[in-house]
Order: sequence, then C-alpha cells, then structure tokens
Amino acid sequence: MGKEEEEEEEKRKHFPFHPFAFVFLLIISPAIAKDGDVMSDLAKSLTNVPSDWKSGTDFCKWSGIACQGGQVTALNLAQKSLSGNLPDSINKLGSLQTVNLQRNQISGLLPSFSNLGSLQKLHLDTNAFSSLPPDFFSGLTSLQEVTLDDNPFSPWSIPDDLSKSDSLREFSASNASISGTIPDFFGVLSGLEDLRLSYNNLTGGIPLSFTGSSIKNLWLNNQQSGEKLTGRIDVIGGMNQLSLLWLQSNSFSGPIPDVSNLTSLSSFNVRDNQLTGVVPPSLTSSHSLQNASLSNNNFQGPFPAFPGGVNADVSKGNNFCTDMAGTPCDSRVNVLLSVAAGFGYPDTLARSWKGNNPCAGPWTGVVCDTQGNEILVLNFANQHFVGTISPDIANLTSLNKLLLSNNNLTGPIPDSLTGLKSLQLLDASNNDLWGKVPGFDKSVTLKLSGNPRIGTEPSPGTAGPPGSLQSVGSGSKSSPSGDGSAGKSRSSSGLIVGIVIVVVVIVGCLGGLIYYLQCRKKNTPFKPIIRAGPPKELPDTQLKIGIINGYGNNTGARNELFSQGSGEDVLSTIPIEDIRKATDNFNEANIIGQGGFGVVYKGELNGTEIAVKRSESESMGKKTGVAEFEAEVHVLQKTRHRHLVSFLGYCRDNNEKLLVYEYMPEGTLGQHLFDRDCGKYCALNWRQRLVIALDVARGIEYLHSLAQESFIHRDLKPSNILLGKDLRAKVSDFGLVKLADTEKSVMTRLAGTFGYLAPEYALTGKVSTKVDVYAFGVILMEIITGRKVLDESLAEEDSHLVVAFRRRIINKEKFLTIVDSSLVLDEKAYESILQVSELACHCTAREANQRPTMGYAVQVLSPLVDQWVPSSFQYEEDSSMSLASELEKWQSDSDSSLFATYKGSSSTSHY
Ligand SMILES: *[C@@H]1O[C@H](CO)[C@@H](O)[C@H](O)[C@H]1NC(C)=O
Ligand SMILES: *[C@@H]1O[C@H](CO)[C@@H](O)[C@H](O)[C@H]1NC(C)=O
Ligand SMILES: *[C@@H]1O[C@H](CO)[C@@H](O)[C@H](O)[C@H]1NC(C)=O
Ligand SMILES: *[C@@H]1O[C@H](CO)[C@@H](O)[C@H](O)[C@H]1NC(C)=O
Repeated sequence: MGKEEEEEEEKRKHFPFHPFAFVFLLIISPAIAKDGDVMSDLAKSLTNVPSDWKSGTDFCKWSGIACQGGQVTALNLAQKSLSGNLPDSINKLGSLQTVNLQRNQISGLLPSFSNLGSLQKLHLDTNAFSSLPPDFFSGLTSLQEVTLDDNPFSPWSIPDDLSKSDSLREFSASNASISGTIPDFFGVLSGLEDLRLSYNNLTGGIPLSFTGSSIKNLWLNNQQSGEKLTGRIDVIGGMNQLSLLWLQSNSFSGPIPDVSNLTSLSSFNVRDNQLTGVVPPSLTSSHSLQNASLSNNNFQGPFPAFPGGVNADVSKGNNFCTDMAGTPCDSRVNVLLSVAAGFGYPDTLARSWKGNNPCAGPWTGVVCDTQGNEILVLNFANQHFVGTISPDIANLTSLNKLLLSNNNLTGPIPDSLTGLKSLQLLDASNNDLWGKVPGFDKSVTLKLSGNPRIGTEPSPGTAGPPGSLQSVGSGSKSSPSGDGSAGKSRSSSGLIVGIVIVVVVIVGCLGGLIYYLQCRKKNTPFKPIIRAGPPKELPDTQLKIGIINGYGNNTGARNELFSQGSGEDVLSTIPIEDIRKATDNFNEANIIGQGGFGVVYKGELNGTEIAVKRSESESMGKKTGVAEFEAEVHVLQKTRHRHLVSFLGYCRDNNEKLLVYEYMPEGTLGQHLFDRDCGKYCALNWRQRLVIALDVARGIEYLHSLAQESFIHRDLKPSNILLGKDLRAKVSDFGLVKLADTEKSVMTRLAGTFGYLAPEYALTGKVSTKVDVYAFGVILMEIITGRKVLDESLAEEDSHLVVAFRRRIINKEKFLTIVDSSLVLDEKAYESILQVSELACHCTAREANQRPTMGYAVQVLSPLVDQWVPSSFQYEEDSSMSLASELEKWQSDSDSSLFATYKGSSSTSHY
C-alpha cells in the first residue's frame, strides 16, 4: 500500500490547487459523518465518559477530543476512570494521531487499530484489555510510541507487522503476557530508544541484531516463564547507545562483555542470572555508571571495585576470590581464570571454583600436591568445552599432566607450554586443534589423535581439513538467521535486503567462537558426543555409504532389527496373511518404491492405507545382536511424533521380514524437488517448502532432545522425508538411528549418504546430533534451489551444492541465480528465502560446535511459517487433536483468515 499512498502524496504536493478540489470536499463530508458515527459508538461503549459527550453536539468540542478539519486527531482520556470497551469501528478514525487511554479500566478485546496510517502515539497501558487481535499493528506506519504495559492480555507474541513501524521510538509492554522470543527487528528500527519487555514470558536470547542498535533503555528483566531469557550477553558490548540495561531475574549465562564503548551507560542490572567470569574493568571504570547490580550470579575473580559514586550491589551470591574490593587474587587463581576465559568461562567451573585457594577445595579439574601449594594436574577431559588453550597455563610451573581430551577446543597448542619443565603428559586428543605442534621435550607424552587439522597452518575461515571429503568452506559463514532481516516498509525493503546482505557479510567475518556464542540456546549443554573409534576399526563391509533413492531406504541389516522377534511383542505383529491380502499377494502393481533394502508395497489393511517394506533375504546382511535389536525397538517405542512416520506393526514369517508403516500418498520430498513432472509431483511453492522444513526440524528436534532419550537420525535426506496428502512432512527411516546419551551405544558403523555427511563425521566417525543439523542445512539448500546436493552434470566448482550456495549467498544477483526458478519471488518470499538461506549456512558450518541446535532451527523457521499461515493455526507439540481434525481446522482457517490477514497489502502473496 505504501507506494500508491506515496504517489498520491506526491501528487498532492505538486498540485496544491487540484482542479477537482471540490470533489475532495464531497469525499470529505462522508468522512466527517463517519468520524461522528465512530465517536457516538465510542460514547456508547465506554462507561463514565465526560459529561459533555452528548449526542447531537459537535464531537470536536467534547472534552478530551482534538480535531482537524472536522476529523478526530486525538483522544486524550488518560486516567479518567473509564470502563467499558472500545468499539471495533475505532480504526475508521483515519486521521487519528494520538490515543491516550492509559490508566483506565477499559476491558474486553482490543479492537484492531490496523491501517491507522497517521497514528503516532498509542497509550493503552494499565487497563483491563483481555487480548490483542493478530493484525493489531498492521499498517501503523507512523507509530512512534506504544505503551501496552499492565494489561491482563491472553498470551501473544509480538507480530512482525510492527517491524514496518519504522518511526518507532518507544515500545513498552511489560507485564503484558508476551511469549515467544524477542523479535530481531527491534535491533533494526533506527529510531527505537526505549524497549520495555519486562515481566513477560519471553524466552531465547537477546537478538544479535541489537548490536549497533539505537536502543538507549532496555528492560528485559523478570521474565516469568520457566525458561526465562537465556544465552550469553556479548551483544550488549556493541549496544553503544545504552544508558539503562535491566536484565535481572533471567537465566543469562557467560561473562559480561567489554562495555568500554557504552559511554552513556548509567544503570546496569544483571542481578539474579547465571553470569560467569571476571567483571570487566570497562564496567568498573565506566565514567557514566551510577547503579550496578551484580548479585546472585557466578562471577569470579577479584571483587569488583566501583568508584564511590556508584550504587553497587555485588557481594551477594557470587564467587569472587575475596570479599574485599581491591584485594588481588592468588596468582594460581589468576592463571586458572585465564584458562577458564579461554573456554568462555563455562558454568561448571564458575560454580565450583570458589575462594582464593585452588588447592583447598573441590575445584573441578584441579589436582594439587599433598602440601596443597602447587597444581600438578589440570583435568578438563570430556567437558564439552569450546574455545582455546590459554598460554598462561605455562605459569603453573609444577604441572605434570594437562588433560584436555574430548572437548571442542580449537586454535593452536601454545608454544609457552614447552616451558613446563615437569610436564609428562599432554592429552588433547579429540578436539579440533590446528597449527604446528610446538617442540616438546622427548619426555613429554603427547596425545593428539582426533585433531584432523593438527600440524597444518590453516588460515582460519577458509581452510578445510586436509583430505576433506568435501570442501565445505567456512569462509562465508552467515549470521544466525533473523539477524537484522526483519522486514521494513515495502518501499524500502530492497534497501533492507541490501543491508541484510551486508550484515551477513560483516558477520561472516567474525570468528567461529563469536559465531557460536550467538546461538540462542547458548546455555544448553552440548549434546553428548559419541565418538567412534578410528576408522581402521571399521569392518569394511559395514562402511556402507551410498546414494540410494526411493521410498525411504533401509539396509537389510536395519530391517532385520525391526522384525527379528525376540519374544517381546513391543510393536504389534500383523499376520502374514493379512499383509498378503493387503498387498494383493505382493502384486507388482502395488510397488511404490524399491532400493537396496528391498521393496515397498502399497496396501490397504482394514480400510487404512499402509506401506509395507519387504526385505529381500539376500540383502539381509550379517545378523545383528539381540542387544542391538532391542536398542532399535527401544527407539521405536520411545519415538512417536507427528513429524516422524508412524510404524503400524511388523511381521516375521520364515524368510519374510515385513514392516508396516502408515502410507504417505505424496511420496518423498526428493520426488517433489527433483523429479517433477507436473501431474504427479508438481513443484512446491515457497509456503509449502517452509512448512515442510519446519515439520522436519520439529521431527528431528524431537528425536534429539524431546524424546525420552536423545537420538541421532544419521541419514536425513529428501528421500527420507515423506509427504502426506496435505503436503505435511514426516521423517522416515530410523534404521541408522543411534542413541546419543550412553557411551555404550557407540557404534563404529559409518553410514549415511554422501553429500549429507557432516565433515567431522565423514572424517572421524564422530557422531553427534550436529550431524543431523548439517544434513538438515543441506536439505534447506536443496529446498531453496531445487537442486540435488551433488550434481555431476554441473561444472566442477558448482557440483557441490553447499559450496556453490555459500559462494553465491554473498551477492544478491548471484544468489538469485541459484534460487529455484519455479518459485514465485515477491519481496516477502525473497526475504523469507534469505532468512532460511542464512539458517542453511549456519546449519552447514564446518565446525560441529558452530552449528545451531535443531531447536534453534525450529525457532527460526516457525515465525517465518507463521507469516504464511494463519496465526490461529496452533502448532503445539502435545496437542491431543488428531492430525485429521487439526488439518481440517487449518484448511478452514486458510480459506478465510489467511486472505483476510493479507488483504489490503499491495503485493498479493504468491504461494
Ligand atoms: C500486572 O498487571 C496486572 C493487571 O493486568 C496488575 O494487576 C499487576 O499488579 C501487574 N503486576 C506488576 C508486577 O506490575
Ligand atoms: C569500540 O568501538 C571501536 C570503534 O568503533 C571498535 O573498533 C572497537 O572494537 C569497539 N570495542 C568493543 C569492545 O566493541
Ligand atoms: C540508582 O540507585 C538509586 C539508589 O538505590 C535509586 O534511587 C535510583 O532510582 C537508581 N537509578 C536507576 C536509574 O536505576
Ligand atoms: C603468566 O606469566 C606471564 C609472564 O610472567 C605474565 O605476563 C602473565 O601475566 C602471567 N599470567 C597470569 C594469568 O598470571
């Protein structure tokens, strides 16, 4: 709409004495009548209105009302003991600029204020409104101030429509039942100064887009949800305009960043969080600081010494080395803190390293001599630490053993460590260290296996591990999705897209650690990593890597697991006769898929359509143990999810090994993306692709973390993603699923499909949930481009999609050449595709620890999907509604409200 209006505006400027001015007058008079109607509605539906609000009198003379040219421009009725409701017609007051209705008792649903393009100030706080309509902010392009605090709203999340209000200066909605995450666009609105979101149910972190934002006062304190706001607060180090920062009573973690550029910072409150690390000198020496509240965290190091003029509350509930400002810590404590700093001040160390004597108490990982003076051993093995090895370790001159194995440490082994005269053992195996190994004395035992890049000198950011199966360049890391890419008004969205790309590039230059830290679920402990033994332990026959197309696929060995009876009837057994009948005695006409594993038949069992996977005896492979069978059955028992394909039962009869699934009529995602022949598999539109991506993300998120145990799929690819009649997706083929949380279940079988294998998995067999995240990122790229991950028909440099994609995303024109040409690209779709592209790059980061969690992917995708489907469509995880009834609901919604939501927008949404 913006465009036409602007043109209209232009015309008015150029032709002040329009020849048809009288026509306008004629048009205005109904408008006056309309405002009069609305005002009489308002007088009726509010109670306690001022006594001069009498019908039949000129409403422009009523108290509290301001008019211009006979049209209402302001409602000034703050604190007038009004109750009753606001009428729906209020959004017909087309000239309204100011609404001051705060501090009354007005109740009921808030009417939509949408399309009041002149509205600048909207004060509705401290009332009794019960909910906001989803389109409340749509079209409010002049909005400057909004206050909604202290209303008993039903839960809502901040709609993206608000991102179009680019004059916004103040947004205040504390104690207003807001859930979801803090939208990225608040960081992009260039005039936003006050953002108050305290006392809500927000989760997630402070968006990365807040770096460089104009925000001066930020209140995010006291979130009421169980999770609260989480993650590290590094981003505030770049919020240079900040004057007030209230983060108290949340679950933020990690250290306070360098705040030396925050030259106006006066009130800093991070009380009651889980922050760690040393309080930075940039905070204690700040000249602008007046109030600092740091109590009840896990801060470490010297007791911070604030100048006398500062109201400081720091002493309670922290782990400073002494309780006196100005007293230095023991030199061993300083060295250990420097070591912890290298690891990003992990929570485990912050909690256990208390006091000023590392040899006196239970300091995690620290072993001293019997006199309790010298540190002999540092043991940080198996801690999932991320970061680098501090050169200051060399100051612990008596150190014998330094154990750092099985972490995610990067960077070089510091040369300084060669100066440790007593060192006997340095075990840094299974990390991702690089660089030349320093020349240690022969007496030192070095264990450095499982560091694929050790000994090489990569220029960080471009080099892949030597001998990498696939050169997935990490040079063009993109920012985590959503960063700064929230929409602006349509007229400027081209510019915004440009800015987004610039931001992507700039952020892409930041190092891996920072990159990782930006993940929203920063404080979530890493999923335990299962490490397979070195590849030589793998029996050759089990190195099954291959591209198998078809309706799902299983190796025979996997099928065997499901159907080999062990006496336990965990899945229901189905008599072979029934299956024969269902498939017309395995009639060839019913074959819907075929692969190395056997054949898939369509059938009908008691009126239900089913898919039957029939293993071929010769492909059964070697028998697997009862234990493994039970582990697989266990997986099936414990994973039931609407986005995982359902198993209906199995049958074992002599040589027949049959698995029965629900039938998915629309085939696989692979067929829709790659084997399009319209009629059977038409190209999917962007909305459908987004929904499928979110479905898959949710299914895998469930496998990773929401199921009773944590599972890794290991063979995620489009041919394992099945589509139902409604084109909603389910993940299938759990034949390679591995339990992720017990060391026992380590399997040394490297399996999967080329192109989708995460680099570290392909190289070392290291399996973590991040392997699936990588594959998911590849699938996102395929969804965006409609291209297979490996396409031999293309030029060498383009044949690997991940590489080609990353190279092109830096440049809009180039990027457009790789986006699937069958997608109709309006601006909205393009922005959405950009955000998914960023997520795809993030997910395919070369370092496993830089990839986000699947939960993060869900967080990024769900608001994008919400832009395309009605917000009333509930996407709950634990809904008891049957899929069918939910679909019905969704479909009926999309008939009515979907179009209602977007009507009035000039660019019709194309699906
Ligand atoms: C939150 O708002 C409600 C009204 O919706 C009010 O009764 C309550 O006192 C407010 N709570 C806080 C902490 O301000
Ligand atoms: C502070 O700002 C300067 C200049 O923009 C920049 O170079 C520096 O990195 C910033 N410091 C921090 C800690 O962000
Ligand atoms: C700073 O602390 C003083 C005393 O506790 C308090 O009165 C004042 O409101 C605080 N100012 C800010 C901006 O928090
Ligand atoms: C370690 O020793 C070096 C050289 O003596 C010194 O510069 C550095 O500050 C020491 N580090 C710590 C954390 O004490």
